[in-house]
Amino acid sequence: MNAGIVGIGRFLPEKVVTNFDLENMMDTSDEWIRTRTGIEERRIADDDTDTSDMAFEAAKKAIQDAGITAEEIDLILVATVTPDQPFPSVACMLQEKLGAAKAAAMDISAACAGFMYGMVTAKQFIEANVYKYVLVVGVEKLSKITDWSDRNTAVLFGDGAGAAILGPVSGNRGILSFELGADGTGGKHLYQDEYIIMNGREVFKFAVRQMGESCINVLEKAGLAKEEVDFFIPHQANIRIMESARQRLEVPEEKMSKTVQKYGNTSAASIPISMVEELEAGKIKDDDLIVMVGFGGGLTWGAIALRWGK
Ligand code: UT7
Repeated sequence: MNAGIVGIGRFLPEKVVTNFDLENMMDTSDEWIRTRTGIEERRIADDDTDTSDMAFEAAKKAIQDAGITAEEIDLILVATVTPDQPFPSVACMLQEKLGAAKAAAMDISAACAGFMYGMVTAKQFIEANVYKYVLVVGVEKLSKITDWSDRNTAVLFGDGAGAAILGPVSGNRGILSFELGADGTGGKHLYQDEYIIMNGREVFKFAVRQMGESCINVLEKAGLAKEEVDFFIPHQANIRIMESARQRLEVPEEKMSKTVQKYGNTSAASIPISMVEELEAGKIKDDDLIVMVGFGGGLTWGAIALRWGK
């Protein structure tokens, strides 16, 4: 029996900040941002909406989509680097908001790879028959740790949340293979002091190398060929990084999820947000083979090969 996604949902704040808005705030241009990153606009949460609020909105949709009740959730894992406060965890706040009384709850700190870490953790509990339903949320309010005077980082990020209920799925569906990794020696390239500090070029090089590599590795582990991939969902950080991974996987353009232009880099939320986008567009169907890959601060990375469907 495999663990798979049995319900999914997302939340994006309403406020849109375009590249042209940023031109009025700092020394940058729509042209530079679009050509270097692929980003055209991003969503920014208002002051009254914190990380746990966005997590709650996405989680409610995932629970409804799964056709379960909050009381049935055994474990809540929230992947975030922007918790409301250091503790209690966002997962505990979410447990209260949802009324998921029997669920254990903790946050996962793995930056942009956090949702991959969360899914793989959920898989262990489900396939060991310890828990049936695990709620995994990727959520960030990066705007609150963004230095709006630093054009090197401020143009890249956005806020949002994606949530999935993981549970047992039928047949050969679900998570077929995974790879998680970390390289603490690269931690100095992307971290939070008061605000996000990043050596963009170093992160770029790491991402290009690691994303392609991890995708190939998960396919190999599952005994699958590149040609069998139906849909590719990379972490939405930069279109140039995504493109290099896509070419390594030899997946045609129309089979790669691309939401970075609308939402920017939403860190741990980007993969589940993109997944919902593609489902709503009818691009992901039952039994499709999906490869997902994330990378980020830590440095961390994670990839999953998943056969879609309950
Ligand atoms: O989820 C993981 C999080 N991080 C990432 O994924 C980031 C990975 N890195 C990247 O995406 C890219 O490295 C960036 C988009 C951050 C930067 O692109 P780049 O092609 O590596 O540009 P660069 O850092 O080499 O900078 C080129 C120039 C510099 O000017 P000089 O020194 O050549 O005169 C920068 O000062 O572009 C300048 N620049 C900007 N200009 C206009 C940097 N940011 C901006 C900006 N607007 N926002």
